[in-house]
Amino acid sequence: MHILERTKSPLTEFAESVVDRHTANFWLQKINPLWSIHQALGKVVKKEEAAHDMVSLTIQINRHFQMGQAGQHHPVYVDVQGIRYERTYSLTQLDAQHVLLSVKKVDQGKVSHWLCEQTQIGDILEFGQPYGDMKLTVNDPELILLAAGSGITPMLSLLKRLDHTTQLKTQPVHLMYWVKQHADAAFKTYFEQLATQYPSFQFSIFYTQEPDADQRLNADHLTGLTQIDQATVYACGPSGFVATVDALFGEAKILKTEAFSMSQFTNDEVGFVNITLTKSKKILSIPKGQSILASLEQQNVKPQHGCRMGICNKCACNKVEGSTQSLVNGTRNSEPGNFLKICVNTAQTDLIVDL
Ligand code: FES
Repeated sequence: MHILERTKSPLTEFAESVVDRHTANFWLQKINPLWSIHQALGKVVKKEEAAHDMVSLTIQINRHFQMGQAGQHHPVYVDVQGIRYERTYSLTQLDAQHVLLSVKKVDQGKVSHWLCEQTQIGDILEFGQPYGDMKLTVNDPELILLAAGSGITPMLSLLKRLDHTTQLKTQPVHLMYWVKQHADAAFKTYFEQLATQYPSFQFSIFYTQEPDADQRLNADHLTGLTQIDQATVYACGPSGFVATVDALFGEAKILKTEAFSMSQFTNDEVGFVNITLTKSKKILSIPKGQSILASLEQQNVKPQHGCRMGICNKCACNKVEGSTQSLVNGTRNSEPGNFLKICVNTAQTDLIVDL
């Protein structure tokens, strides 16, 4: 991990001493848009197509940017039509001053559409602190990486790191990557080059919507993977994919999964329940089957949140009572006094939460 030094420059000290941060940043950025008293900023210096509806932005970072470990996520803040949005992306470190931000357009996704279609060379983005547990360890006897769609981005980051440190020379790694069509495959040439360069790296790609379609992830794909109980398995993809990974790789020594879109596990569950918000003293009626966070936002309640993927814990609150169901893997929870991530859970009964 590369951590940039955080000493204050004389210009920063002077600016801090005479004006407030906001004003100081305003004037500093007139001189150089990457300068700031405190903000982690990055400038888009290259934009290229990574796959169909997916772009890769090369970002030059400033001194406040905290480089996460490979596989972690960063909050990215952008202003779209005057509204500030926060989204979470997995970045790949290219060198000490540059990271790669790869973004796939998602349906109705304001931020992903803006990043794919509107960003231009020279645009400035703001970043938050990195987080996430999908990190490399030194002693993994075997690493199994499973990705679907844009879930490939943390895997790229991990593999770039293993390549950079030449750990791939000795570290057995399997990458299995599911996409719909050939045009959706991102970074395929790089993965094929790694497979040629390192005998310990195995790469398989599956196309589920081509004429001679491959199968979605199932038990057959475990054939050839030995000692899963000794392996570290990381998976990233839509929630249905992640739920399958949970079911198939439950015996893995370490299993970490991240879902970037939520399925509805509760299609048979219709209707509304009441949610009592103890701190804001409100009782609202919300639908079953969608995330509690989205339901509250639709009623103009704006709970704190970050990733909307169940990773950052920013939306977590205490559930006093009631039943919930995970939108990632369908598990239900009825225990009182429970830690609840409202971005990835739906209400099953009336709920009382400390919000
Ligand atoms: S918003 Fe990140 S865990 Fe819910």
